Amino acid sequence: MLIRVTEAQPVANPSNISSAKPLRLVVLASGFGSLLQSMLEMLDTAKVEIVAVGSDKDCPALERAQKLQIPTFKVPFDAEAKKDRTGWDLRFLEAVSAYSPDMIVSAGFMRILGESFVEAFKDRIINTHPALLPSFPGAHAVLDALDYGVKVTGTTVHVVDTGVDTGPILAQEPVVVERDDTVETLHERIKVVERRLLVDVLHSIADRGMDRDGRKAYLK
Ligand code: GRF
Repeated sequence: MLIRVTEAQPVANPSNISSAKPLRLVVLASGFGSLLQSMLEMLDTAKVEIVAVGSDKDCPALERAQKLQIPTFKVPFDAEAKKDRTGWDLRFLEAVSAYSPDMIVSAGFMRILGESFVEAFKDRIINTHPALLPSFPGAHAVLDALDYGVKVTGTTVHVVDTGVDTGPILAQEPVVVERDDTVETLHERIKVVERRLLVDVLHSIADRGMDRDGRKAYLK
């Protein structure tokens, strides 16, 4: 994985953290949007403001934002995008940049962010994942954990790098796997923890920021 920072340094925008202004957040989502919903309900808007919600497709997450009159954008990952991934990356970067975010949260966004995007928002993108990384990265984390037979899985909030769920870990919490769990029952229990953890992490970043020292990231 690609980590270019070797010395401890602030990750989130320190000027924003020390000012009275809320952290400007762009949320990326591709699905149901329950993580987005929990942010909309639980975030302290004096600390963190969701300035836009973006997606690669029409999805319930975008509809949730639209209902609340939060600006949304969509950069469809269509046949043209499949042929020209670099072009899609550029359009997506432009769409997000238009909102001048301090931070970007990938909350159920089911597309790997391109290198140019990650570089443009270096150390300012966080992702939430339904497993205890580095175990079970990728799109089928809950199924993979169940199939493996682990007794404890959980959720991870991490800084995004150019790999698949490989970035420095900010926070993790465990969830016990029950014998009769299905993907659905286990994922729902994970999501209960995941929603709260994400909000806690965002409040913490807004209050005090975060540090990264090489592979290790810390909430202050
Ligand atoms: C979350 O578990 C997230 O970690 C995973 O997809 C789920 C999104 O859920 N990548 P929702 O669409 O917010 O309900």
